[in-house]
Amino acid sequence: MDTVIITGGTGLIGTALTRLLLERGYKVIILSRRPDKRSNRDVTYAHWNVETQTIDKEAIQQADYIVHLAGANVGEKRWTAARKQEITDSRTKSSELIYTALKNFPNKVKKVISASATGFYGEYSDHIFTETDPPATDYLATTTQAWEQSISKVTGLDKKLVIFRTGIVLSQDGGALKEFYKPLRFGFATILGSGEQFVPWIHIHDIVRLYFNAIVNDRLEGIYNAVAPNPVTNRELILSMARMAKGKSFMTTYVPSFALKLALGEMSVEVLKSVKASADKIQRTGFQYSYPTINEAMEQLFSR
Ligand SMILES: NC(=O)c1ccc[n+]([C@@H]2O[C@H](COP(=O)([O-])OP(=O)(O)OC[C@H]3O[C@@H](n4cnc5c(N)ncnc54)[C@H](OP(=O)(O)O)[C@@H]3O)[C@@H](O)[C@H]2O)c1
Repeated sequence: MDTVIITGGTGLIGTALTRLLLERGYKVIILSRRPDKRSNRDVTYAHWNVETQTIDKEAIQQADYIVHLAGANVGEKRWTAARKQEITDSRTKSSELIYTALKNFPNKVKKVISASATGFYGEYSDHIFTETDPPATDYLATTTQAWEQSISKVTGLDKKLVIFRTGIVLSQDGGALKEFYKPLRFGFATILGSGEQFVPWIHIHDIVRLYFNAIVNDRLEGIYNAVAPNPVTNRELILSMARMAKGKSFMTTYVPSFALKLALGEMSVEVLKSVKASADKIQRTGFQYSYPTINEAMEQLFSR
């Protein structure tokens, strides 16, 4: 059975993808900064260090596929200049390390499948972004563009490449949903800003199936938006979550944009920016979403 390296495989998406790959009989090697801290006995952990550009040569030699998920978390800490540099470097320099390893070590890697983000796109109220649209010019967009460019170099080594421009991943195990849910524990459905901004979102199960699909489907290549086909506003998302989790027992509140800007600084753009991205291209390949609407997604997430 094939071997899949997952960089950053210890994170939200990587953990769920690892589970699916193991179920399907794949061998999984996770490249981590701290492999000694990890404990899944069914997985091999290997070390890499993006700063010193060192990587486990044997892991590269064993791999048939590389899934590149590593990167400093965009929503975790305030965007100081140093943090922004870390967010960018952890993506571009890790991509460079993968490229150099594939160039210098004999290997049988067929395909690299990399994360990217819908942060690539700008904000136009009525426009639905497709994969051929140009990037915006804000910090996230320029970082995302640099990330995609850095990993694209592997195509020069005769490797296939798939890039998933991912929307906000909804999971009970972490990420944005956990943050959206916090005030609901006290009965408040908290809408951010005006609530009118569109949120490109995707259920964890579907993003994991997309990565799996990119591994099993040889013909899948290029850039795809990884978002559910039915975009919703922040208000619709929060209220859907509140109804599924609390029935009618909640009160709706708003956090005004200025308060979010004060609390989060520049990072507030992440929750206030309105982006609609199209799922048409991936759907044309035959991919069928398990959770195409927000109500189906929230129902599944809050039914356990
Ligand atoms: N979750 C979302 O909503 C979402 C949306 C759009 C795009 N994405 C992208 O999809 C990818 C995976 O997302 P995720 O939610 O699974 O991420 P995550 O939970 O934050 O995990 C990312 C992993 O990257 C590694 N990492 C963190 N900081 C690093 C650094 N400075 N240098 C090198 N590696 C570092 C960590 O692994 P080790 O500690 O083991 O090294 C971590 O487990 C990310 O690149 C993310 O930007 C995610």
